[in-house]
Amino acid sequence: MMMRTLVLLTLLAMALLIPGPGQAQDSISMQQLTGNERAALAPTQKMIDFGRTAAETNCASCHGLDGISTEAGKPHLAGQRSVYTYRVLKAFQANVRRDEYHNDFLNDKAMLATAVYYSSLEPVQLAARDTATVQNESGAQAEEDPFYDIREVMRRCVKCHGETGNASGRGMPSLVGQDPEYFVNAMMGYVDGSRSHSLMKKLVGNLDEETIRRMGLFYAVQEPHKSEVQGDGNADTGRRLSEACESCHGGNGNASNPSMPTLAGQDAKYFIKAMQHYKDGKRQHPKMFEAVKALSEQEMIDLATYYAAEQPRRRDVRAPLKSTEWIARCERCHGIDGNSRDPRFPMLAGQDQTYLAKALKAYASGERKHSAMHAMSDSLSAMDIERISAFFASQQPKTVVYMSVPCAGETENADPDLDF
Ligand code: HEC
Ligand code: HEC
Ligand code: HEC
Ligand code: HEC
Repeated sequence: MMMRTLVLLTLLAMALLIPGPGQAQDSISMQQLTGNERAALAPTQKMIDFGRTAAETNCASCHGLDGISTEAGKPHLAGQRSVYTYRVLKAFQANVRRDEYHNDFLNDKAMLATAVYYSSLEPVQLAARDTATVQNESGAQAEEDPFYDIREVMRRCVKCHGETGNASGRGMPSLVGQDPEYFVNAMMGYVDGSRSHSLMKKLVGNLDEETIRRMGLFYAVQEPHKSEVQGDGNADTGRRLSEACESCHGGNGNASNPSMPTLAGQDAKYFIKAMQHYKDGKRQHPKMFEAVKALSEQEMIDLATYYAAEQPRRRDVRAPLKSTEWIARCERCHGIDGNSRDPRFPMLAGQDQTYLAKALKAYASGERKHSAMHAMSDSLSAMDIERISAFFASQQPKTVVYMSVPCAGETENADPDLDF
């Protein structure tokens, strides 16, 4: 038994009790421990027994008396950190965490005892096979690539836009140096008809919004180059004319506004075509119509020549993290391998994979409210969620035993009514 349950000894030190800088104050789980919660970290047998009785009547029908879920999507409670579980129960009661399953509420004492009881149980034991698979795969290159899931569909773009979206000089637009917001608008323009190009329309038509957004992110984080082909107009005249464009397209054609396209390094032939289309109304945009309506053919060529030779700059867009980089961030709060040492933070190790993925989606959508977890989950792709959930679900969970040491400045003592 002892061989299978690894016991961590953690000193309950001051660090645990004072929220660090940057930790959200609005969340239930990051508040300081109360006197009762501290008492629950070193529970008496009487408290555990009381919790077992309460769990048997109120929780076992769904969570089992052993706290091990047998149904995908339902969380394991065995070994879960007691303060976290207790706070979750209070959040259910206060309707802060909403769900349809927890409508009969225990009193505070019984909630604390039930949390302590489940926390004292041996967590789920994973078969060696479960822990092996994901770890092996995570070593592979593909598992590390944050764009792995869109590579296949992006192969369709390579023929015309190149591997990285840099202008290839055949009248094809450069896609790098653009903000993902402009990219998405441009793509949607082909669907809603404000831009006409039957092939682009067909290509975009069968992509979902999330895929389009991620493609935009992919091109935005590539290193942009100047167009390989020089235009055949007068760059100096183009530079002078470009003063009228600067307020929107930025100095040297490097726009900073996310809805404005960067013109630096743009392919000249594509540039001229775009200008003509704004002028003759094939591409609908009132502001651009205003900007081009008085320009002559030659002036468009001069502008195209000037911009094509300018160096495009990467937008200020953060490259997405690899799964392993995400996991390292999660471990700062949830402990190494998701074995949380802080009783306020849930253990993720060995948790049901479907449940973990569901929880992350709920934080991202705001259905489950928590500012720190919203910030962590908001930019995860569906593939990230799958990988990260699989990783934590396949880590062997370990229980933690806390040894309470009195801290200087402790103000709150356990409630005498707790009586365990
Ligand atoms: C009717 C079935 C049912 C009963 C009874 C029930 N639960 Fe649950 N419980 C669930 C389901 C389903 C979920 C998953 C909800 C979700 O997906 O967010 C859950 C989630 C939880 C969670 C959240 C786990 C986490 O990691 O955040 C805790 C804690 C919990 N239950 C504790 C209890 C306790 C303690 C009792 C008894 C007082 C109890 N539940 C009674 C069905 C039940
Ligand atoms: C057969 C060649 C071809 C393929 C394949 C192709 N494109 Fe295009 N793409 C073009 C052409 C030509 C234009 C310019 C159309 C126009 O004048 O509006 C364009 C325009 C665009 C634009 C607008 C650029 C801007 O600056 O406004 C985006 C964005 C784009 N393509 C993305 C993609 C993506 C993503 C894929 C792959 C799913 C793709 N394209 C596949 C030829 C292609
Ligand atoms: C008031 C703001 C504004 C001004 C001024 C302006 N533009 Fe634009 N421009 C835009 C916007 C917004 C778009 C994107 C429109 C769309 O989605 O079709 C755009 C698009 C373009 C495009 C197409 C880019 C692409 O990748 O398809 C070109 C080329 C362009 N502008 C050139 C110019 C030039 C040259 C001038 C100066 C003569 C100019 N613009 C002045 C706002 C402006
Ligand atoms: C700043 C600390 C912090 C970081 C970093 C963090 N979490 Fe959390 N996490 C929390 C807290 C606190 C909770 C409990 C929130 C609540 O009460 O709902 C939580 C809850 C969760 C839950 C719900 C657990 C359950 O049993 O219902 C999951 C899943 C989760 N985090 C996954 C992650 C993942 C994956 C990452 C990394 C991408 C991560 N967390 C990063 C603090 C953090």
